[in-house]
Amino acid sequence: MSTSLHIDTLSAIVGRVNCLTDESDLVSYTTDYRKVYSGAAMAAVRPGSTKEVSEVMAYCYEHGIAIVPQGGNTSLQGGAVPVSNAGLCIVLSLSRLNKIRSIDPVNDTLILEAGVTLAAARTAAESVQRLFPLRIGSEGSCQIGGNLSTNAGGTAVLRYGNMRDLVLGVEVVLPDGAIWNGLKTLRKDNTGYDLKQLFVGSEGTLGVITSAVLKLVPRPRSTSTALVATKSPATALSLLGRLKTRLGNDVTAFELISAPAMKLVQEWLRDEEPLFASKHDWMVLIEISSHSDQDDINDAFYEVLTESYDKDLVLDALLATTEGQAQRLWRLREEISDAQTRTGGSIRCDISVPLSAVPEFIERASAKVLDLEPATRMVIYGHMGDGNVHFNPLRPDGVSATEFMSKWHTEVTLAVDAVALSLEGSISAEHGVGVAKRDELLHVKQELELLISWRIKNALDPRNLLNPGKMLPAISSFSRSQS
Ligand code: LAC
Ligand code: ZN
Repeated sequence: MSTSLHIDTLSAIVGRVNCLTDESDLVSYTTDYRKVYSGAAMAAVRPGSTKEVSEVMAYCYEHGIAIVPQGGNTSLQGGAVPVSNAGLCIVLSLSRLNKIRSIDPVNDTLILEAGVTLAAARTAAESVQRLFPLRIGSEGSCQIGGNLSTNAGGTAVLRYGNMRDLVLGVEVVLPDGAIWNGLKTLRKDNTGYDLKQLFVGSEGTLGVITSAVLKLVPRPRSTSTALVATKSPATALSLLGRLKTRLGNDVTAFELISAPAMKLVQEWLRDEEPLFASKHDWMVLIEISSHSDQDDINDAFYEVLTESYDKDLVLDALLATTEGQAQRLWRLREEISDAQTRTGGSIRCDISVPLSAVPEFIERASAKVLDLEPATRMVIYGHMGDGNVHFNPLRPDGVSATEFMSKWHTEVTLAVDAVALSLEGSISAEHGVGVAKRDELLHVKQELELLISWRIKNALDPRNLLNPGKMLPAISSFSRSQS
C-alpha cells in the first residue's frame, strides 16, 4: 500500500489539517528540542480524542506502521522522536488531547487528558485550593502523558515523590487500538497486578496513555526559600540532615548548584548581580513549605541556618523576603538546563546514588573528568535530596561543541556512569533511557531483567510498532535464547 493511501486514511480519521506531512511542518516533531536526535516520519498525526487515537493505532497495527508517541517533545534522551532507521513511521502527537475532565477537592483527584501541560495541571489544582506537586523547569511545554511515560521527577520529589507516586489511574490505548479504561480514583485497590504502573515509565513502548487520574495534595500555607553557600557537597549533606531532623517533611526542595553551573545560568539570563559578597564553590537552593504560619516557618528555618552557620555548614545565605526574590532564585535553578543547551557542548549524566554517597560520587567523578580534560567546566547541579545529580561536564571556554563532544562524550559518560555504578547507583535517575542510554542498559541490567522486559513488550506489542528502538536494547544483542 502506498504512503499516500496511508496519509489519506489517517487524514480521514483526524482531519487533513491534523495530519502534517510537509517537511517544514514535520521538522519540529521529528527533531528533539535540543536538536541532538532526529529521524524520519511520513506524518505527524494529531488526534483530538481517545477514539481517534484508537482508530489511528488500529490502522497502523494492521499496516505495520511504527508509532512514536509524543507530548511536549522536551525529552533529553531522544525518547520522543523517531530513530533514524524507524522505517514506515508516524509521530503521534497528543497535544490536542488537552482537556481537564474533572477536578475533585473532596477525593483530591484531577482527571485530565495526556496533552494537558504540567503548568495547566498545576493551575487547575490551584483553582480548587489544591496542589499538583510535580515541578520541573519545562512545565509550560511538557505534558502529563510525557511526564507519566518517563516517570518524571523534578525539584519536589524529596517531599512528594515522582510521577509514579502521583498517579491513581490511566487510560491507555494498546498497539492494536484496544482502549483500556483504568481511570480509577481509588487510594486502595488490591485486585491484581498494578497495570497502570506498567505503563508509567515505559516511555511509550507498551501503549499510549491518553488520560490519567492524578493525586492532589493540600496547598502549603507558607513557604520559605533561601540560597545557601556551603563549602562542599559533604557540608551540604550534613545541612540536609539537620534540616530534616528539625523540619521533617517541610523540607520541600534541596537543590545543589556548583559555581560553574551558577555562572553559566547567570550569564545566560543576564542576571549577573552577585548573589553573595564573596565567591563560593557550592550553593544549595532550599525550599521549606508548611501548613503552619509564615512567621513560625521562617523562625524554624532561620534557626537551623544560624546553628549550621555556627558549625561551618553554611557560609552565607540569601533569604528570599519577597515572592519576586524567591522567583529569581528558582529561575536561576530551573534555567540551568536550557543555559547548557544554548551554550552547546554539555555531556549530560543524570545519575543517582544513595544520598550518603553523593559527596564521594561528585569527588571521584570530577577527578576523572578533570584528569581527562582539566579545563572542563564542571556544571554540576540537581536534586541532592533525592541522591540525583545532573553531572554535566561542559566544554572549556574557546573549545567548540563539536570538538569537545566528539572527543569526550563517550569516554566521559562511561567514566561518570562507572563511578555511579560502583556506588550502587543508577545511570539514569529521572530523564529516562530513550536512545541515549538504551545500549548502556546491556551492562547495567541483569540479563533476566532485560528478558522479562522483552516478554512484557512482546505480550503487549507483538509487532514491535510502539516507539521502536527506544529504551530496550535489541534482544539479539544480549540473548541467543528468545523468550
Ligand atoms: C533539571 C532537569 C534537567 O533538573 O532535570 O533541571
Ligand atoms: Zn532534574
